[in-house]
Amino acid sequence: MKIFLDTANIEEVRLAAELGVIDGVTTNPTLIAREKEDFVETVKAICSIVDGPVSAEVTEADAPAMVEQARELYKIHDNVVIKIPITLDGLKATSELSQLEIPVNMTLIFSPNQALLAAKAGARYVSPFVGRLDDLSHDGVRIASECQDIISTYDYDTEVIAASIRHPLHVFQCAEAGIDIVTIPYKVLLGMVKHPLTDNGIDQFLKDWKSVKK
Ligand code: E4P
Repeated sequence: MKIFLDTANIEEVRLAAELGVIDGVTTNPTLIAREKEDFVETVKAICSIVDGPVSAEVTEADAPAMVEQARELYKIHDNVVIKIPITLDGLKATSELSQLEIPVNMTLIFSPNQALLAAKAGARYVSPFVGRLDDLSHDGVRIASECQDIISTYDYDTEVIAASIRHPLHVFQCAEAGIDIVTIPYKVLLGMVKHPLTDNGIDQFLKDWKSVKK
């Protein structure tokens, strides 16, 4: 399974990239706004750290404007993937961008039917939002897994990114369900590493090491 980092914080990208476990990065307008930095410069900086797909989201609502904004964003770096919400205009823009071979991550996916249409329009990635579905008492991992099943059954050239990941258990459940990619906040990555038995084990080993003749 590929792991993307879901952040616009350059320091987090740098720290995670050093671990050698990050395959890409996703951003969204909220994450960009949180950092109070220039959008284009942020995407450029992320692309210089991570050699993998970096999603940057359009903020226009109608298809021609989305395509124009996407073409500008794609000039930042070859690894930029254009994030587009699933709307009628979003599908139209995705279909046009896929003909131009500009990769699209179709976002704000909450149902398998939306994922199916995104794949048919030529989206390179589809992003079901697991945590936000859980918030409404739906089973987010299950819906992401249904999206994955449809994409895999028909062999679309589309990968599923489980997004809106809130905790390490989501990651494990997505891995168990065979979902292509998860995009995770930095704090979830830290949570995946941490285990009290590992900490206790290290403490014990270091304590015992002190009594060894050297
Ligand atoms: C990823 O592509 C999304 O931008 C992100 O995972 C949304 O997460 P949230 O529901 O925690 O805002």
